[in-house]
Amino acid sequence: MSVARMLTGDRPTGRLHLGHYVGSIANRVALHQRHDSYFIIADLHMLTTRNTREDIAKVAGNAREMVTDILACGVDPRRATFYLQSAIPEVGDLNTLLQNLVTVPRLERVPSVREMARDAGREEIPYGLLGYPVLQAADILCVKAQVVPVGRDNAAHVEVTREIARRFNHLYGEVFPVPATIASATPILVGTDGQGKMSKSRGNAISLSADPATVRRTVMAMYTDPARVRADVPGTVEGNPVFAFHDVFNPDRAQVEEFKARYRAGRIGDVEVKEALVVALEKFLDPIRERRARIEADTGLVDRLIVEGTERTRERVRATLVEVRRAMGLTSAYQQVRRRAERTRKATATPA
Ligand code: TRP
Repeated sequence: MSVARMLTGDRPTGRLHLGHYVGSIANRVALHQRHDSYFIIADLHMLTTRNTREDIAKVAGNAREMVTDILACGVDPRRATFYLQSAIPEVGDLNTLLQNLVTVPRLERVPSVREMARDAGREEIPYGLLGYPVLQAADILCVKAQVVPVGRDNAAHVEVTREIARRFNHLYGEVFPVPATIASATPILVGTDGQGKMSKSRGNAISLSADPATVRRTVMAMYTDPARVRADVPGTVEGNPVFAFHDVFNPDRAQVEEFKARYRAGRIGDVEVKEALVVALEKFLDPIRERRARIEADTGLVDRLIVEGTERTRERVRATLVEVRRAMGLTSAYQQVRRRAERTRKATATPA
């Protein structure tokens, strides 16, 4: 029986945090066992907003940490292929071919493209950033992924991939499966400052590799309800990040409901609610820390996984590109030229 192929992954910009876990890692951990699973380290995508030599110098280290974090969350290395995007030049070849199957206004409507430009402090969108969803389509289609578990903001990219796949198949024949998106069912996790989604660049993240002291310090400094100056003042639960975290990470539902009721009534202090959150987060992070320690003790494991995975993926991508060029007629274009060159060479060759 053949299993469906899955592709997912991240840009190697730093350690993964709780927001990544909620947004997509939880989904990946659940899904990877049942699929032929690929994990991309999308360094070419990173270049769309960070492309200095310093940024690029960090790719190797960040890639290793990222893979370590993903394995620590419970992905089985025997069931996952990790690969470095920039080590597979054929991805760029496919990107070039797919660029003609989508329009500029369509890409300008993708919300995350504008958002990423804004976050990177750019007023105008670089050409490569506009093409971010097309490059992602190249990733997804070059391994012929059928399932793509991503965070919510990436669902729009997979939608572009689906359109490009259909367009390609319509023009040149059935080559690509139209991939299914699997978006997280959990709402996007808010940052510790309560000001929008958790993001490392906004400084409101708790990383999956944070030590207990950092977790405690960060939780104790978390934004709550600014109108609440004392524990006996009724507080607001909605939009309060401490409760958003409880909702996601505290498995003791009865405790969470009790806290909410008491908070609304002004019968519990922020500190007690936060202390309980620290306990819940520690329970969540402990098994991740244990697995990470085991992975790190296995010297060279992660680098080896990335190298072997990249080789394996490159083989597959090469095969896809052969098929793509054939379907489009590009292979025969060059064959025709070569045959003609050969004929004229023979016809005009002066016998020795
Ligand atoms: N866009 C993803 C991110 O936000 C990374 C990525 C690049 C990706 N190519 C992909 C995810 C293909 C899933 C499938 O970091």
